[in-house]
Amino acid sequence: MAASEGAMRMGKYEMGRTLGEGHFGKVRLARHADTGRAFAIKILDRQRILAMKIDEQIKTEIATLKLLKHPNVVRLYEVAASKTKIYMVLEYVNGGELFEKIALKGKLPEKEGRKLFQQLMDAVSYCHERGVYHRDLKPENVLVDAKGNIKVSDFGLSALPQHQRKDGLLHTTCGSPNYIAPEVLLNKGYDGSMSDVWSCGVILYVMLTGNLPFDDENMVVLYQKILKGDYRIPKWLSPGAQDILRKLLDPNPITRLGMDGLREHDWFNQSYTPAVPFDDDDDNYVGDDNSHMTKHNGIPDNPAINQMNAFQLIGMSSCLDLSGFFEKEMSQKEKPDLHQTIPLLIYLRR
Ligand code: ADE
Repeated sequence: MAASEGAMRMGKYEMGRTLGEGHFGKVRLARHADTGRAFAIKILDRQRILAMKIDEQIKTEIATLKLLKHPNVVRLYEVAASKTKIYMVLEYVNGGELFEKIALKGKLPEKEGRKLFQQLMDAVSYCHERGVYHRDLKPENVLVDAKGNIKVSDFGLSALPQHQRKDGLLHTTCGSPNYIAPEVLLNKGYDGSMSDVWSCGVILYVMLTGNLPFDDENMVVLYQKILKGDYRIPKWLSPGAQDILRKLLDPNPITRLGMDGLREHDWFNQSYTPAVPFDDDDDNYVGDDNSHMTKHNGIPDNPAINQMNAFQLIGMSSCLDLSGFFEKEMSQKEKPDLHQTIPLLIYLRR
C-alpha cells in the first residue's frame, strides 16, 4: 500500500491512532480517503497465524462473520492481507468500552443496566442463532456507540458448530478468568450458548453493582469461587434483578437460565423492544465498494482462492495472543501496499 505523506495507508484507508490492543492484535482508527468515514481496522500478524494448522472448519468461521449484520454487533466489512499482516475493516464505534463507562461512572441505574443487557442479549442470541458463540464476552469487548447503545466486538474467539465434537460440546478453553463459565474451566466440553449466557450474567452483575461477582488475587481461589458459584447478590437490588442474576450465575449449565428462559423472565421483559437485524441491503457502508477495489487494485477474480486464504488466516487467530507481534512490525516502517494485498483481498459485503 502506498504510504501517503506522513500517514500510513492501507489501500484507501488512512491509518490513525491505536484504539486498543487486545489479546489478538491491535485495533487502529482509520479514515476512508474518499468518503471520510471512520473505521476501526484490526491488524493481525499473518506469520504467526499461518504457523498454526489450518483446516476446513475455519473457512466457515469467517464466512459466518460476514453474515453478522445486527445493530448491536460490530460489523466486519472487509478483510485484506499484506505479506505480513491481516487487516479486518470493522465498524467504528465511538463511545468507548462499556468497561470504561462503568469504571468512570460506577454501577448503572437498574433501568439503564437492563436496557444495555437487553441489547447485549439481542446481539448474543442473534449470533447464537447463526452458530457463532463469542466465548470471550466481557465489558472490554462490549463497546458503546454515541447514542449509548451496545455493540459487541471481537468475535475472533468465536467457536462455530464445526468446533464441536461428536458430543455436541465445545472443547477449547478461551476466555477471561473473571467471566469464564465453570464448565469452561473444567474443560470437559461445554455448550457455547450456555457459557456465553454465564458471561452475560457476569456482565449484568458488573453493570448493576459496579463489582465483579467472582474475584480473587489468587487464581486457584478465583477458580474455586467460580466452580462453586460462590458470590453474593446485594439485597438492595430489586427482587427481579436478584432473581435473574441467580438464575444466570448458576454453576450448573443444565439448570442455568438459557436464552429461552431469559426471554420469558419478567425483569428482562420490562420496557423491552427487541432489535431488528439489518437486511442485506439495509446497510450504510460507505467505504470502498467491491467494483472499485477490483478495478482499482486489479484483484484477480478468483474468489474461491482469495476467500480461502483469508478464511484460513483470520480463523486461525482464535486462542492466539498475537499482541506482541504487531507493535514491532508496525513501528518497523512496514508500509502495507495494497498491491501486495491483492491476492488475499476479499470483500465481505454482499
Ligand atoms: N476498539 C476495538 N474495536 C473497536 C471498534 N470497532 N471501534 C472502536 N474502538 C474499538
